[in-house]
Amino acid sequence: MLSKEDINNLIEKTDMVKLVEPYTKLKKTGSGYVGLCPFHEEKTPSFSVSQDKHLAYCFSCHKGGSPIQFLMDIKHIDFMDAVKELAKINNVNLNLSTKSDNSLTYKKYYDMNELALKFYQANLFNTKDGKVALKYLHERGLNDDVINDFKIGLAPKEDNKLYSLLKDAGYLELDMIDNGLVKSNSNSYQDVFIDRIMFPILDEVGNVVAFSGRTYKESKMAKYMNTTDTFIFKKSNVLYNLNQAMSSIEQNKRVILYEGYMDVIASYRAGLKEAICSMGTELTTNQIKKIKKYTNNVIIAYDNDKAGLNATFRAINMLRKEHMNILVMRLNGAKDSDEFLKLNGPVKYKGYFNSNLKEAIDFIYDTYTNNANLNSSTQVEELKKDIYRELRTFNSALLVEKYLKKLSNLLNISYEALLNDYNRTTPYKPIEEIKIVEKTKLEEKTIYELRLFEYAKISKEKALYIDNYLEKNDCLLAFCELNQRLWVLLVNEYYSHHQEFLEDEFVKLLNENNLFDDYYQNTLQLENTNIKYTDEDLDSCLKRMIQKANEKKQDLLQENIQKATSAELQKELVLKKFKERKNKKGK
Ligand code: GTP
Ligand code: MN
Repeated sequence: MLSKEDINNLIEKTDMVKLVEPYTKLKKTGSGYVGLCPFHEEKTPSFSVSQDKHLAYCFSCHKGGSPIQFLMDIKHIDFMDAVKELAKINNVNLNLSTKSDNSLTYKKYYDMNELALKFYQANLFNTKDGKVALKYLHERGLNDDVINDFKIGLAPKEDNKLYSLLKDAGYLELDMIDNGLVKSNSNSYQDVFIDRIMFPILDEVGNVVAFSGRTYKESKMAKYMNTTDTFIFKKSNVLYNLNQAMSSIEQNKRVILYEGYMDVIASYRAGLKEAICSMGTELTTNQIKKIKKYTNNVIIAYDNDKAGLNATFRAINMLRKEHMNILVMRLNGAKDSDEFLKLNGPVKYKGYFNSNLKEAIDFIYDTYTNNANLNSSTQVEELKKDIYRELRTFNSALLVEKYLKKLSNLLNISYEALLNDYNRTTPYKPIEEIKIVEKTKLEEKTIYELRLFEYAKISKEKALYIDNYLEKNDCLLAFCELNQRLWVLLVNEYYSHHQEFLEDEFVKLLNENNLFDDYYQNTLQLENTNIKYTDEDLDSCLKRMIQKANEKKQDLLQENIQKATSAELQKELVLKKFKERKNKKGK
């Protein structure tokens, strides 16, 4: 168990300057250090670091504090992960038993759930009602070992047995309610789960954070009922069975994502133990980040119906954003993996599973082409649009060529004609990204950079004029890193081969350099503003670039970093990067 003392020792040991330095540059002052706040944009430093007091705190946005708080804020991690991280940094072995995570703050809730779990388990194995529920589980193919491995239990049909037990154990009603196990009626307390088979939901370290209860008799009630979100349970963050699957995930370097608990259990029974699922909700970024700690390889094995198909597409989109490797397994002749197992047995399931894995892009291509009637010209047009859109999100020249060739064979159109068609169509704007941009307030600080692109798109002459100006005044480095790359690509690559700006041609180049999404982010930002493009405006943009460049140069000087500060050199480096990447691709 982690004690207050352990934590204090950890804090005492921490070199605050070393901890903070990777995130912002610090200057020594009388009593400590100051720097620009790493949590918000600012021009004058309000971030203060004290070695003696072990604090790193922003007086303006109030983020940070103890080294633990600082890590929580800067890395968006929870308390326990921050403690672990700090221990690693300080070379301290915390000797955490797996059960102790987080228990510092939420111990009473975990303990309460653990007690409820034991109660439900006993109720399943030792009561008359339990026999009925056990029979149901056995009929569904779960033997007692599996039932125990998943800690399955039964909530009794009386409506306050758990409440009495918790009360006798000394828990407060308020805590029981907060923990989602008990609810209050006008003048009494009642269990939340009544007469349901109980699936405990464990977090990664094995704490019971919630329950999901399933009906097992004819009933008009909802099939599953979950604990509402509590202090220790956020449904959209949790992955069922991750705790138990972890070692298999690491061993097999992959994780299988199912739709339901029973599919996860079926998979486990078939020996595919790297199985998890979300709790009946769409896959979230948080969940993907959790998966990423263990593997980048995800197999989506959702249900064999329309809903499962759509969910697969959405999951692919989410996973793609986090750069995961995605395979898809689609079933045949059964509605979900649990049913497949029931019909064909574990050996056949495992065999089918392993020989029916498809790359996500193949899955997408096959789904669209299989569903289209190629005799209908409207459907062919739709099909093309769908495939183009997907290819654009995959963002790879190699894939574009491969699948356009496939499609040209299928449709009996020459590859050249199809490629032409593909390049002519309006690029797809990812919907999610539009939303994000609308939400973010446009920052004045870089918008003038983006305006320069608009001027450069007007004509080659204008582009070269601006480029010349930037070079002469040594202010290419004023661009943020991304815009710098875009700029060099536009002026030195694109305009060296083209006389005028053609969006589609440029997009091709962007795709080759994996910059398409970023470019779109930028142009979308401008779409939301009402900027008048005039020579005076161009002038003021250029002036801002000089100003910004000077600021940056000051910073660079101060840091005494041997970085290239001349525009020429900068450009050369960036160009070199592009060439290297191109060569790699060519091989
Ligand atoms: P079985 O019907 O027992 O085979 O369950 P399943 O695991 O195959 O579930 P299904 O495919 O029907 O649903 C997928 C997941 O959605 C479940 O595992 C639950 O997490 C969730 N779910 C399904 N039905 C309900 C419901 O009625 N209420 C809630 N809250 N969640 C549900
Ligand atoms: Mn099912």
